[in-house]
Amino acid sequence: MNVLETKEVSYKYPDGTPALKDVNFHASKGEIVALLGPNGAGKSTLFLHFNGILRPSSGKIMVEEVPLNYNKKAIMNVRQKVGIVFQNPDDQLFAPTVAEDVAFGPLNIGLEQDEVEKRVTESLERVGMAGFERKPPHHLSGGQKKRVAIAGILAMRPGIMVLDEPTSGLDPKGASQILHILHQLNQEGMTIVISTHDVDLVPLYASQVYIISDGHIIKEGTPQDVFGDVETIRKANLRLPRIAHLMEILQKKDELPFDKPYPLTIGEARRKLLKHL
Ligand SMILES: Nc1ncnc2c1ncn2[C@@H]1O[C@H](COP(=O)(O)OP(=O)(O)OP(=O)(O)O)[C@@H](O)[C@H]1O
Ligand SMILES: [Mg+2]
Repeated sequence: MNVLETKEVSYKYPDGTPALKDVNFHASKGEIVALLGPNGAGKSTLFLHFNGILRPSSGKIMVEEVPLNYNKKAIMNVRQKVGIVFQNPDDQLFAPTVAEDVAFGPLNIGLEQDEVEKRVTESLERVGMAGFERKPPHHLSGGQKKRVAIAGILAMRPGIMVLDEPTSGLDPKGASQILHILHQLNQEGMTIVISTHDVDLVPLYASQVYIISDGHIIKEGTPQDVFGDVETIRKANLRLPRIAHLMEILQKKDELPFDKPYPLTIGEARRKLLKHL
């Protein structure tokens, strides 16, 4: 089942900027889908459509195969199903303390105090921010804010989690940790959509990849399909995962017999190299 889908979605900002053009995107239940694209391509704009923050100029958004309705009640309802972590945590965090921030969503949907406290504790532990409950969010570092913003959405237990560049601004260990958490949540049944520039991490986690450029989806498929199309990747100002790039150089410049598709992860490259040696 497509839990999240856009049909021919176009969007123009009020100042006339055309940010999305006929975008067809879908995420099946239980998948991890990655959206890649250069700055200004339309990633954040697309994500803001997924729970009704923006409304398409034309086309439709479908959540669990039902077209999104924009009345207040329907929007409240859809926001419990689709949780969005914004690119900039300052757009998300506003309560006086970390604990109150994470508690805001669960309280807002009318959960009991006990349940709210349980979810706050669990979510903060999960993102490695236990112990920061009483700090004001604006006293946290950028990476810490990002983790708290993720905890705030986790506490809502949405079936679909959409994260706009969840690893930007995190240190390498922090970025791997976040992706590991997302992988765990996915194993527990959550559908996950992320935008990222981190092409090295994408093949490790994503089952489907989309490339957006200048408001258009220009490629979609498995990581092998998408990174196999080197020309499109470079046209979109992206790059191959480093390890695939190394294998490409070994093949093209050093004439080692590594055919396309190039391995995308260290594990695959290691197997290929050992076989050759
Ligand atoms: N509020 C706005 N008003 C007018 N134009 C906007 C607005 N927000 C974004 N845009 C424009 O829409 C286009 C898409 O922007 P968007 O933020 O979706 O890109 P992005 O892919 O998320 O980029 P980044 O990788 O830098 O986050 C850009 O041309 C941008 O200048
Ligand atoms: Mg963005």
